[in-house]
Amino acid sequence: MHCLKKITDDLTWVGGNDRRLAMFEGVYSVPDGVSYNSYLMLDEKTVLFDTVDKAVSRVFFENLNEVLGERTLDYLVVHHMEPDHSFTLEEVVLRYPNLKIICNAKIVSMIKQFFDFDIDSRAIIVKEGEELSIGKHQLKFYMAPMVHWPEVMMTYDTTDSILFSADAFGCFGALNGAIFADEVDFQQNYMEEARRYYSNIIGKYGSQVQAILKKIVPLEIRLLCPLHGFVWRKDIDIYLEKYDRWSSYTPEEEGVVIAYASIYGNTENAAEILASRLWDRGIKAVMFDVSVTHASDIITAAFRYSHLAFASTTYNNGIFVSMEALVFDIVAHNLQNRTVAIIENGSWAPNSGKLIRGELEKCKNMNILENKVSIKSTLKKDQLSEIDDMAETIANTLIQK
Ligand code: FEO
Repeated sequence: MHCLKKITDDLTWVGGNDRRLAMFEGVYSVPDGVSYNSYLMLDEKTVLFDTVDKAVSRVFFENLNEVLGERTLDYLVVHHMEPDHSFTLEEVVLRYPNLKIICNAKIVSMIKQFFDFDIDSRAIIVKEGEELSIGKHQLKFYMAPMVHWPEVMMTYDTTDSILFSADAFGCFGALNGAIFADEVDFQQNYMEEARRYYSNIIGKYGSQVQAILKKIVPLEIRLLCPLHGFVWRKDIDIYLEKYDRWSSYTPEEEGVVIAYASIYGNTENAAEILASRLWDRGIKAVMFDVSVTHASDIITAAFRYSHLAFASTTYNNGIFVSMEALVFDIVAHNLQNRTVAIIENGSWAPNSGKLIRGELEKCKNMNILENKVSIKSTLKKDQLSEIDDMAETIANTLIQK
């Protein structure tokens, strides 16, 4: 049975929710599920904005049938070819053979990569700033390369001031009956998932997000319609400001993310003493055991806070495996503008600190503190002052001490 949500008189959400998916993209846990958003606009022409993942294809087609009624589908706007939004594209084409697909040239190439149907005869290729009238509504197209793939584009409905923003402004978590962000306590219950979604999915592409923000911030946006999560009709400025902050790699809060890798608890002990010394100085510290917490969750915290501390044992003369995965992931996500402290451990040849520093030096504008703490097996009493010094140095780099 169809299950859809009305957004305006002319626009309906026809997507679906997946609560059985364990790992989004095979990497990111989605304990609260995820939504695949698709929107259908009825005007003189009927226009579908994106399709959905295979997991929700049945309800999607029931939704589509219900809203279209006796009408056919005239246009499909494809903003992004990642299969979570395009898996059902070919089935849509089969059901509506006279359909025209509105997209850019890169999307045409990707459609040919993913599918074998004839796209050339039905593609309407649009470029930056081009417009298309579908009756009462006028659609304007903006290219958004690398937000999150190179082919991504967005559509702005100049008539009703609606921005279809592709992956941008999305959020993990299934929609549990609500469709608008202001229907739920987004700040309390969803902002962390929005941050986790942003930092892991789009976090690497800060400069490209900045580029699209420059295009869309001047627009009047009454409705913000992403491909995952809620539609925004209130407080859009707050969400835009978050994206500006995240994409410029500006910390949201002063505080220290302490990530530690500890085989027998001795490196953890040093990390805990550092956390204690920080809180003694009124500095917020959050701790993660990298062997327990997935790297993607720690990256989310790294995007949030101003300081990072890594405490890692040495393993096979390298960085401990789960810490290595985290550090590599942070570098891959292009994190910038953080102050970093390092504690290393090694029973005969502590080496992890030098290697972690070497990796993080690949990131832009990382202030890696010189006073590394190096321990052999266990932290000794005469090294407590080194931890104190590290906490004090961190305190001295905070703006508000
Ligand atoms: Fe939700 Fe980049 O796909």
